[in-house]
Amino acid sequence: MRTNNWAKALLLTLLLPLTAHADEGMWLPLFIKRLNQADMQKKGLKLTAEEIYDVNNASLKDAVVQLGGFCTGEFVSSQGLLLTNHHCGYDAIQSNSTPQDNILQNGFYAATKADEKKNPGLFVDILVRMEDVSAKMLEGITAATPEAERMATIQQRQRETAEAAKENGQYVAYVRDMFGGNEYYLFVYQRFGDVRLVGAPPEAVGKFGGDTDNWMWPRHTGDFSMFRVYADKNNKPTPGAQEGNVPYVPKKHLPVAMQGVQEGDFAMVFGFPGRTQRFLPAAGLQLTLDESNPARIKLRDTRLKIWKADMDKNPDLRLQYASKYANIANYWKYFIGQNEGMKRLKTVDTKKAEEVALAQWIAQDPARQQQYGEALSTIEQAYKVQRQYNLSSQYVNEGAFGTEIVTLAARMMPLANALKSGDKGAISKATEALREPVKDYFKDYSAPTDQKVFAALMNLYMQDVPQDQQPDVFALVKKQYGGSMSKYADYVFSNSFLTSEAKVNAFLANPTLAKLEADPAYKTYQSVYTNYVQNIAPKLQASQAGLGRANRLYVAALREKNTQKVYSPDANSTIRLSYGTVRPYNGRDAVHYDYKTTAQGILEKEDPTNPEFVVPKKELELLKMKDYGRYADKNGNLPVGFITDNDITGGNSGSPVINGRGELIGLAFDGNWEAMTGDLAYDPELKRCINVDIRYVLWCIEKLGGAKHLVDEMTLQNNGPSPGVGAASASSNTMNADMSDVEKMKVKTENGGKTKIKRKKNKDAAAL
Ligand code: ARG
Repeated sequence: MRTNNWAKALLLTLLLPLTAHADEGMWLPLFIKRLNQADMQKKGLKLTAEEIYDVNNASLKDAVVQLGGFCTGEFVSSQGLLLTNHHCGYDAIQSNSTPQDNILQNGFYAATKADEKKNPGLFVDILVRMEDVSAKMLEGITAATPEAERMATIQQRQRETAEAAKENGQYVAYVRDMFGGNEYYLFVYQRFGDVRLVGAPPEAVGKFGGDTDNWMWPRHTGDFSMFRVYADKNNKPTPGAQEGNVPYVPKKHLPVAMQGVQEGDFAMVFGFPGRTQRFLPAAGLQLTLDESNPARIKLRDTRLKIWKADMDKNPDLRLQYASKYANIANYWKYFIGQNEGMKRLKTVDTKKAEEVALAQWIAQDPARQQQYGEALSTIEQAYKVQRQYNLSSQYVNEGAFGTEIVTLAARMMPLANALKSGDKGAISKATEALREPVKDYFKDYSAPTDQKVFAALMNLYMQDVPQDQQPDVFALVKKQYGGSMSKYADYVFSNSFLTSEAKVNAFLANPTLAKLEADPAYKTYQSVYTNYVQNIAPKLQASQAGLGRANRLYVAALREKNTQKVYSPDANSTIRLSYGTVRPYNGRDAVHYDYKTTAQGILEKEDPTNPEFVVPKKELELLKMKDYGRYADKNGNLPVGFITDNDITGGNSGSPVINGRGELIGLAFDGNWEAMTGDLAYDPELKRCINVDIRYVLWCIEKLGGAKHLVDEMTLQNNGPSPGVGAASASSNTMNADMSDVEKMKVKTENGGKTKIKRKKNKDAAAL
């Protein structure tokens, strides 16, 4: 008989001997007492679970914020001073730069609070509480409930529950699903809309090593920037920067550890990891490997080359496109690394083997067969359909929408709808809503550059996507422009009013549907959009509905089968805690990587002829004199970076790395090349979290930036060595993972079967 999946999963979670093991896992703070506390304390944590997460009393969670929905930051003073990464503050730093006052290039530290720079639109979310609402969401839903009804019911409940939790707009709240929809959690936040830029090192420090070093260890990047959160006089959030706002007083700010890190030290990372797909089936991995990643890489590569050529020619354009470039380049390299890693580590094969084992386990028992029997075959079928239409999706997202003019055209949609309705109020509302975005857009826009991108990307779209899935506009290009996308681009950019701010504003002064619909850029967008909505999306959606259900069953079956493993849910931009140790690694045969870097490495990498490795003159002088101030380590070196085996991903950027006493030891900012498959499958031997040492951050602020007043605002502590398991045990982790099955069985029997030894994990697929 079929049972309620979630109820069963819940029951399982309650009955199992629950001890999670570090390395893999982005844990929900709500459960660390039950799942992780014992293991964390064994590794060196001196705090209790309540000191980390407590709804009623100040705890570490109150010092951690989600920044702008895409990064993490942490409070380091009682006056709302926030640390995050340079690449998280990048957009704000660039937006506040002008060719005359280029703070991106030169760095910036506000001398007084009045000098801090406002950032319209930027906000931070601070967690108030979270709650397991699975029972409420799934009440009365059974395996027999039709999928569409299930979805509609749950969505309705999610909305209602979130709405109630907002308490009349006091909070931001949402319900997120976990484990493929087997569980649901409510998150309630306070949102502060007044976040001001306080400081940033020169780009040559904050992005030292550029795209060459990105996603790589060893690293020497000072990847930090500083903001301050402001609130009203009652310490309550405001939607934007309001008159009379004062620095926010956080419930908790992190003290800073001055004594640094050693191999084997306990380390935890608190933050907002964005997305992992560790439950992605083999067919999904295969599609990513064969098609999605190569398409993304090709399209981004094309766009980046065009941008770069123009940026190199024109410093003003370089400043305008700096942030966009960095964003696109970041994941361009990520996709390359992910594909390389998938091939090297045989990620798909490992996942396939897991699925074969799962299928056997399901087949062993008629009840399982009935409950989960359909999952794997439905997944297989659904991916066949996905594969048919996948390129269209990729080329719409990264191709058509890789050109800026098409994205601007898309923004006109609500206005077009208002114009169609003829409702004057709606028209003026839609027009007003465009004013700010249009201003922002043109501040950093070059039509000639975008025209080149348009010609190149739309051409690839026309070449690579199956004929019968192409938008009408390509027929026109073939018929009227001899198939030359660059001629068509010429026509679009000479005739569209979406190429200049003055023309767009003239249109907004008196918008008509006729004018918009006659615009060639808008027409191009319409053609791409209509084709996608009418011919592609319905096919994908049909397969996705079945896939949603199948994935849910697949994840439930996996958890039921592997009872000895405590799974953490995939990252989905909700607050998580990961823990582990400071730990070196062996990158490949004969290559060992130390766990830390020093300023020596900056001097070794310095190259005045390569913009990515230029060291600012003042830094060079200070480093050559070894003027490290109070930030030298015990060997007299200036520490710069270190690695831990914490499980993190994009969105964790800027996260505090915290020692066993709850002190800040660094900021997480990247992952390593050898483990670029980490979002799909976790490998404990290879995956490392790359952090900037807090002492380098402070050195950059105080010695390089001359902003000692900001360091003085923080709470510096020197309580002696951080707690941990020490170097020997940290590397015995490695030995443990290398133990043979027989050895592990022995340990297991000796412990009367109650062992906490990690299951043998296949190197490639630890996270299935
Ligand atoms: N790979 C880093 C991340 O995703 C971003 C590093 C930014 N630096 C750069 N050179 N693009 O968090």
